Amino acid sequence: MIQVVDEAKQEAVREACALLRAGEIVALPTETVYGLAADALNPDAVAKIFAAKERPSFDPLIVHIRSLGDLQQVALVPEAIAETVSQLAAAFWPGPLTLILPKHPDIPDLVTSGLPTVAVRQSAHPVFRAVQKAFGRPIAAPSANRFGRISPTSATAVLKELGGRIPLVIDAGACGEGLESTILSIEPRPHKKPIFRIHRAGPITKEQLQEFGKVEKMKEAPENQPCAPGQLPSHYAPMTPLILLENPADFHPEPGKKYGLLSYRGDDDGPYVALHDWEQVEALSPGSGKLAEAATRLFFVMRLLDEAGLDAIIAEPLSETGLGVAIMDRLRRASARP
Ligand code: TXA
Ligand code: MG
Repeated sequence: MIQVVDEAKQEAVREACALLRAGEIVALPTETVYGLAADALNPDAVAKIFAAKERPSFDPLIVHIRSLGDLQQVALVPEAIAETVSQLAAAFWPGPLTLILPKHPDIPDLVTSGLPTVAVRQSAHPVFRAVQKAFGRPIAAPSANRFGRISPTSATAVLKELGGRIPLVIDAGACGEGLESTILSIEPRPHKKPIFRIHRAGPITKEQLQEFGKVEKMKEAPENQPCAPGQLPSHYAPMTPLILLENPADFHPEPGKKYGLLSYRGDDDGPYVALHDWEQVEALSPGSGKLAEAATRLFFVMRLLDEAGLDAIIAEPLSETGLGVAIMDRLRRASARP
């Protein structure tokens, strides 16, 4: 048998692994977005993630494991949800589903921002998996962007966000999913399927989860209690103001200002493209209107428009079914001003 070995890739994986062992941070591709990785069990290494991202310490990180077998190193899975966790892992791991579980005492408080729970997932990206296999320990990795900004879906975007602050980014091209993982917590019920709460909409949809549990709305956070920033109203924000225009009739352009359109299909005869003499129009899924393609391209297109010197980006809404829920969630947060 002839085995083709990608020398450059292997060298990059070795280097990333050596840096992680030395307590450094490295940017790695995942199937969702690029992550900024550190040894999850080393608080000094984890602190470098918060510093590079300028992330407030009250925003907990996701811990990535190699396989379901490693779950017990990072979480204490209660008996009452053990079967559901196994079913979800069998159905969606490796992949873009993050589970919130009671934390293992070995996980530093900095990782979980002092919460008694830890967010865990297993990445499906071959490069991430290769690094993790070589490293052999759980990896904490948030999205590799500065706090509150658009998540990076390419190595170029990582460098724009964190260039000069990190020793290495492995470039493995564009991320397949393009949106961060779905975050889920599980509440057991005696003799019934558990209740699922979606903390962040993502590539794994409500429809896909319903087979395993009853998906319910998040409980409102009690007033005065800080909620996690990924759930803050303003997040994923471009520098240019972005306005989610639910009704085309509400658009009142100011004379002399430059507007760009973030469209779903970019149809010339659609109600949004025809609305104005746009400086620039970018479509999420040109012509065909496929939600998966729109999700993959969303952050890339938001960055393109952000760099176009516009006064405002006008975003067209999508229907909120399937992946449309996660895309609209990101557009709403991008349009909310802090
Ligand atoms: O797809 C992804 O999940 C990417 C890739 C790199 O894995 N990571 C990612 O991480 O999006 P980050 O840090 O950008 O978003 C993690 C979200 C944050 O909103 C955080 O508040 C939430 O997960 N989170 C982490 N631990 C939590 C916990 N114990 N309870 C509730 N939310 C938690
Ligand atoms: Mg993030």
